[in-house]
Formats: sequence, C-alpha cells, structure tokens
Amino acid sequence: FVPKRLAGRRVLLTAGPTFEPIDPVRGITNLSSGRMGFAVARACRQAGAEVVVVAGPSGQPTPLGVRRIDVTTAEQMHRAVMGQLDAGRFDVFVAVAAVADWRVANYSASKLKKSEGGAPPALEFAQNPDILATVARRPDAPWCVGFAAESEDLEANGAAKRKRKGVPLLVGNIGHETFGRDENELLLIDATGSRRLPRASKDSLAAELVAEIAARLPALP
Ligand code: C5P
Repeated sequence: FVPKRLAGRRVLLTAGPTFEPIDPVRGITNLSSGRMGFAVARACRQAGAEVVVVAGPSGQPTPLGVRRIDVTTAEQMHRAVMGQLDAGRFDVFVAVAAVADWRVANYSASKLKKSEGGAPPALEFAQNPDILATVARRPDAPWCVGFAAESEDLEANGAAKRKRKGVPLLVGNIGHETFGRDENELLLIDATGSRRLPRASKDSLAAELVAEIAARLPALP
C-alpha cells in the first residue's frame, strides 16, 4: 500500500536538457537524459498528484497519467512554465531540467557554411531566463524545489544556491556521473540543514523525495 501523499495536489515539473540552436541543423545541448525528472514526475503521479511535465528533448517515455509538454529551448521552457502557472494554481514546482545558461544570440536562419581558408564562425551568447528563480518570485509561487549539480562543496554551494533562488528545498546531485545513469545519490538541503539520500535507483530516490516534499508542504485549506 502506497499512501497517496499528494492527493489533491497539482505538481508542475521541468525535465531533460534544453537545445539551443546555432543554425537550422546545429545546436548546443547537454548530457541530461530527463531520467531523474521523469522519475520524479512518475513518483508524484503515484502519490496521487495531477502532474504536468515541461520537457526538453528527451527520449524518456511519458509516465501513465502524466501530462507532457515538449519544448526545445530554454526560452520555450520558460514560456510553457509561465503559461501553465498563469492558467491555473499549482501546489508544487520541481525544476529538474538542466536548462542551458546561454542561448546563441547570433542564430543563423541559414546553415553556416565553411569557406576554404575562411575564419570559423564566432558564436555570441545571451543569458537565458532563470526559470526556477522566476517562478519562486511570483506572488502565486507554488512550493518550489530546485536541483543542483555542483562539482565541489555541494553542501555549502547548495545552501547558497537555495537562498539565491529563493526556494525552500534544493536537491544536490552527489557526484557528477549522474547524467544518463540509472542510479543517483542526493543531498536534500533546506533551511534547517541537509540530509543525504544514499545511492539508489532514480525511481526509489524520486519516491523518497516526493515523501520529503509532501511532509513539508503546507496543509491544504
Ligand atoms: O543555477 P543552476 O543552473 O545551477 O540551478 C539549477 C536549478 O535551477 C535547477 O533546478 C534548474 O532546473 C533550475 N534552472 C532553471 N532555469 C535556468 C537555470 C537553472 O530553472 N535557466
């Protein structure tokens, strides 16, 4: 028997990488598979929540009963998330996506061509919106959870990031080899301190995380 800890709740998530185009056939992305994000989405659904996932390019299957909105770029992800929040109340927002920090500012509508002896093209970058921080600042902000992949001093950097983003809970990926893997190890950081969730499958970590979120959520009116 699995208690329906999120019954009556609406959860919005981001998952996967983003893809920032350079020209019609090229772009910049990262190694996020979307596995952790979709595992959290599935766990939220199993806990009884209504779940919407805004996903960057990811081959992960859509969990049963979960609504999926596919996007490509960080700006599209940002717009889709804000559109969902404008359209209705959400209790929880979990930002699992590995959003590109920068997009290509000098996108070329035609395919860049190499010319014999010519200089390689120079890319210019513009900063993408921070989706999580923007959601956390909204007056109607859901209860927000962020993720962090820090290469060093996860505890201190994670705690600082939690405050900077203005979220009650930040989940640190312990170690850097989590991308695309089945297993992970997490550090939960909240205002009172941190707690380690030891190495386990992303599915079982997601279930533990959902229990932690449910325990911290303000009661339903
Ligand atoms: O600042 P950093 O990228 O390390 O923060 C990671 C957290 O912020 C993740 O939860 C990620 O989904 C979220 N994020 C976001 N929009 C961005 C960058 C990160 O929502 N542009």
